Amino acid sequence: MNVTVVGVGYVGLITGVCLAKLGNHVVCYDIDDRKVEKLNNGEVTIHENGLKNLLSSVLEEEFIQFTSNALIAYDNADIIIIAVGTPENSDGSANLTYIEQAADEIALNMKEETVVVIKSTVPVGTNAKIKSRIKNKTNKQFYLASNPEFLREGSAIHDFFQGDRIVLGTEEEHVKIKLDNLYSPLNIPILHTDIRSAEMIKYASNAFLATKISFINEIANICEKVGANINSVSKGVGLDRRIGSHFLQAGIGYGGSCFPKDTKSLVQIAGDVNHRFHLLEAVINVNAKQQKVLLHKAKVKFGNLIGKQVAVLGLAFKPNTDDIREAASIVMVEELIKEGAIVKVYDPIAIDNFKQIGFHVQYCKSIELCISGADMVFILTEWDEIASYPIEEYAKYMNNPVIFDGRNCILDLNNNDSVEYIGIGYSHIEKECTIY
Ligand code: UDX
Repeated sequence: MNVTVVGVGYVGLITGVCLAKLGNHVVCYDIDDRKVEKLNNGEVTIHENGLKNLLSSVLEEEFIQFTSNALIAYDNADIIIIAVGTPENSDGSANLTYIEQAADEIALNMKEETVVVIKSTVPVGTNAKIKSRIKNKTNKQFYLASNPEFLREGSAIHDFFQGDRIVLGTEEEHVKIKLDNLYSPLNIPILHTDIRSAEMIKYASNAFLATKISFINEIANICEKVGANINSVSKGVGLDRRIGSHFLQAGIGYGGSCFPKDTKSLVQIAGDVNHRFHLLEAVINVNAKQQKVLLHKAKVKFGNLIGKQVAVLGLAFKPNTDDIREAASIVMVEELIKEGAIVKVYDPIAIDNFKQIGFHVQYCKSIELCISGADMVFILTEWDEIASYPIEEYAKYMNNPVIFDGRNCILDLNNNDSVEYIGIGYSHIEKECTIY
């Protein structure tokens, strides 16, 4: 099929390249000429495992092209997938400006019988508004559908091809069939539903995942006070198939471009229909506190941080991405500077993005350079390189070997007598439990 994807950010680029890999003829449209040129030359604009090879192969097979020309983008498309950003407004609601701009251009340029699919995360009812908006600008026959995405950064290509489900919200049978045909090569279960339910599934999914994270973080905070071990508790809870072990990893909370935005947006959506979403408000508040939990621990231990050398390992909001949006590192570094600490930071790939913020810190090219002379280490992202770094090396390089592990990720704590290790959710060193 001829598919156009609008917006070549994290979601649009992955969607376009993967649909091209399935044999569709894909046009990816973006207003950013520089980004379009880079992608047509095979240069990837985001860090995503496997993307460069996939992009090269679909470019070579001429299944994909990138353009900033609306006419080329829209005039031959059977399906137009809108995957533009819906950033957060100051009141927490979703900003639909880019969706509306895309809709206006589509109305002017699309051909008859086009299926317009909204993949971006949008408040319930947005599809209906966009349908009216397009109808007011054209007499052409077209159809709307909702197809939210569930891709995780760092494993987005895997998630596209091995996802748990595809959600399609449609109003016409022939649209349902057309989109079934688009996705059937994936052999992934497809849930067909109405458009509003499809819009809601996305928010409910992300809100529930965020709830799991804030829940286990609260349990971790209580474990510290009652002398329990969060790693055992998390494993014991997760063995219940009704709960599952995923998203029960305690730490300094969630970040990224989705959970923070989507949870606040869902609180707004509920508020717009006079429903106070107390539970989700609590999830958001817990997460905000959790991002600063290591700072609290450090101040309890050291009194104050004035003049203390603090090494921060990990800046990305999670491993295997260069994305720092809403990352705990931003909150933590800002607070550490306010407390008068002298901060050095390291991240395997997100350091250039972090530099854009402009903090007055020292940017290091290696773990050793970062921890040398440090009075304490804050681990904020569980990169493999950081998790597997030998614990005895800390004592070798640091002025005062104290580690605050915000992701409980240091694997090898046995036989450690050289470093003071402080994690989240247990009040003593012994971390592991054995499942017989
Ligand atoms: C998330 C959803 O997983 C995905 O389905 C949706 O499409 C987009 O939002 P993403 O934000 O890329 O994906 O990353 P994810 O792996 O979900 O992690 C989100 C945050 O939660 C990260 O900051 C991560 O460190 C944190 N997290 C995750 C925890 O703190 N504990 C966990 O157990 C899991």
